[in-house]
Parts: sequence; structure tokens; C-alpha cells
Amino acid sequence: MIEIVPLSRAAPDAVEAVLDAAFGTDRHGRTAYRMRAGVHAVPHLSFAAFDGDALIGTLQMWPVELAQPDGRAEPLVLLGPVAVIPCRQRDGIGRKMMDHALRAADSSGETALMLIGDPEYYGRFFGFDADATGSWEIPGPVERRRLLARLTGGRTLPATGAIRPRQAALAG
Ligand SMILES: CC(C)(COP(=O)(O)OP(=O)(O)OC[C@H]1O[C@@H](n2cnc3c(N)ncnc32)[C@H](O)[C@@H]1OP(=O)(O)O)[C@@H](O)C(=O)NCCC(=O)NCCS
Repeated sequence: MIEIVPLSRAAPDAVEAVLDAAFGTDRHGRTAYRMRAGVHAVPHLSFAAFDGDALIGTLQMWPVELAQPDGRAEPLVLLGPVAVIPCRQRDGIGRKMMDHALRAADSSGETALMLIGDPEYYGRFFGFDADATGSWEIPGPVERRRLLARLTGGRTLPATGAIRPRQAALAG
């Protein structure tokens, strides 16, 4: 039976192995990693999928913000990576983790989520789109159609600004 549990229940090495298998070992230079450099994943919004004792998927969320020229910053949550081990992909595990994580985000009052991912997946099933993100500055290359956001509860965000790690959450 597949179970979605807090990510803290998975061994850190096993989480890294899932991410390497899904994204490759050269994944650390990706733009998404730069957006959340120096902050920790949000514990109550990060999950693991287990089939028995086997870790088969992971999903993390991170505190980031959209910085404005006047010094203000709008808090957002960066979702990802979402990873399922290759031999179990396209079997509903990604959707199961996403549904669980979005319910957790909604019930914690997180009204602005963002991610870099395929709109064919994250738009089709989970309500993400690129409507709000077209002019955001991002710390690295990104295909604009893959820079997605999900706003709920009437939340709006500035059309411009720079995405960066949430300064109040920077470690040390
Ligand atoms: C993307 C990923 C998380 C999806 O999880 P999954 O468990 O494989 O997918 P699901 O079984 O939940 O997918 C259900 C549906 O989405 C579709 N789908 C899955 N990945 C897709 C993608 N990248 N683009 C478009 N559709 C996709 C499936 O075909 C399936 O459609 P169907 O029900 O019409 O057959 C997983 O495939 C993965 O880890 N991929 C490699 C890493 C990655 O690209 N992560 C996303 C970026 S953060």
C-alpha cells in the first residue's frame, strides 16, 4: 500500500537517491535550486511516498519571496522537486503526493505557490499556470511557459519583482 508521510520519516540519503534517479546527479545547478539556496524545506509541507519500506517518491516545499524595488517582499512557497523513481512513474504516485501536499498547503493558509515544471502536468491536474509569472526575474535560465504559480483565496501578486530565498528564513 502506498502511504504519503512527512519527509522527515525518510532517510536523507534515500531522499537524495530518489532525486538523483528522477533528475540526474547534475541537478544541483538548476534554477530551482538557486531560488531556494540557503533555506530549509518547510517540514509540514514536505512529503515522502512509501510502498511498504521502499521510498518511491518525494516532494518538498521551500520559503521564497517576490522582492520589490521598494524593499517589500511578497512571501510565496516554492514547490519542488517532485520526484518519483523511474520504475514507478506514471502510476499515480506523483498525483497522490501533489494532492496531499496541496491539501496541506491550503489548510496551512498558503495562498501563493510557485514551481518550475511542465504545464501539461501541473496545469492539467493541479491548477498551476503562467499568468502571473511572465515578468518575474528568476536567478537563472527558465523556460517561461514552465514558470508556474497557483494563487488561491483571492491572492494576487505583483506582475514584476525578483524571486529569491525568503530572507527571514535564511539559515545562520
Ligand atoms: C513528473 C512526475 C513527478 C509525475 O509523477 P508520476 O507519478 O510519474 O505521474 P502520475 O502517475 O501522477 O501522472 C498522472 C498523469 O500525468 C501524466 N504525466 C506525468 N508526467 C507528465 C509530464 N511531465 N508532462 C505531462 N503529463 C505527465 C501521465 O501521463 C498521467 O496521465 P494520464 O492519467 O492521462 O495517463 C514524475 O514522472 C517524475 O518524477 N518525473 C521526473 C522528474 C520530474 O520531471 N519532476 C517534475 C519537475 S518538479
